[in-house]
Amino acid sequence: MAKIVVIGGTGYTGSHLVREAAARGHDVVSVSRSEPQERVHGVQYEVGPAEQTAERVIPGADAVVATLSPRGDMAGRLVEVYSDLARLSAQTGARYLQIGGFSSLRPAPGAPRFAEGDVPEEYRQEALEGEAGRVMLVEDAPEDLDWVFVSPAGAYGAFAPGERTGAYRVGDEVALFDADGASTLSAADLAIALVDEIEKPAHHRQHIGIAY
Ligand SMILES: NC(=O)c1ccc[n+]([C@@H]2O[C@H](COP(=O)([O-])OP(=O)(O)OC[C@H]3O[C@@H](n4cnc5c(N)ncnc54)[C@H](OP(=O)(O)O)[C@@H]3O)[C@@H](O)[C@H]2O)c1
Repeated sequence: MAKIVVIGGTGYTGSHLVREAAARGHDVVSVSRSEPQERVHGVQYEVGPAEQTAERVIPGADAVVATLSPRGDMAGRLVEVYSDLARLSAQTGARYLQIGGFSSLRPAPGAPRFAEGDVPEEYRQEALEGEAGRVMLVEDAPEDLDWVFVSPAGAYGAFAPGERTGAYRVGDEVALFDADGASTLSAADLAIALVDEIEKPAHHRQHIGIAY
């Protein structure tokens, strides 16, 4: 059993991860500023900004998963908060998994990342902040931090919740597409992939993409 701290554990990504990790018997702590609308049995809910609670809840964790989104009053603040979470995780010996965006992937080996091209206006700010979070890990993460940066599928998101199938593929920084050229993933299946990675660490200081 691992102690898993989910930063943003009441959000779209975080709540599925909290549910999956708890169902698999892990000791789960969820951090969010608002009370959860629904509580998963056995999960410890810490209510307060990660900037204040992280220092208290990260010590003793085996894994920290950062699932904040750069929206609302978090716009422009993601990298600063993630940089602190990375530092605290390194200090306490926790693995650190940071969820970013599809736009940090490349369409083909060696090609520019989607974030370097024409990202639609409605996603641009989020894509660029997610990408800045990746660059922070690659360039500035403490040397002893065991990090993984995760890009979900292009059509991943609360607008397309999908189902729990148990199927997923893990790629590198080149985007995965299915036989129809689509890039999709449900939050329940991303949660399975994340808990699998926590239970059997397969990637270290790496950027991975997860999709069907
Ligand atoms: N296709 C894609 O590439 C794609 C699509 C969707 C999402 N994503 C990425 O996945 C990640 C998660 O997105 P999401 O849609 O799951 O997010 P979300 O539903 O907006 O959830 C964010 C969570 O973080 C919490 N939170 C926000 N600021 C906080 C703070 N300062 N301290 C503590 N908790 C805080 C929120 O609760 P409170 O507001 O109550 O604090 C909520 O629980 C983001 O990086 C996003 O860019 C990628």
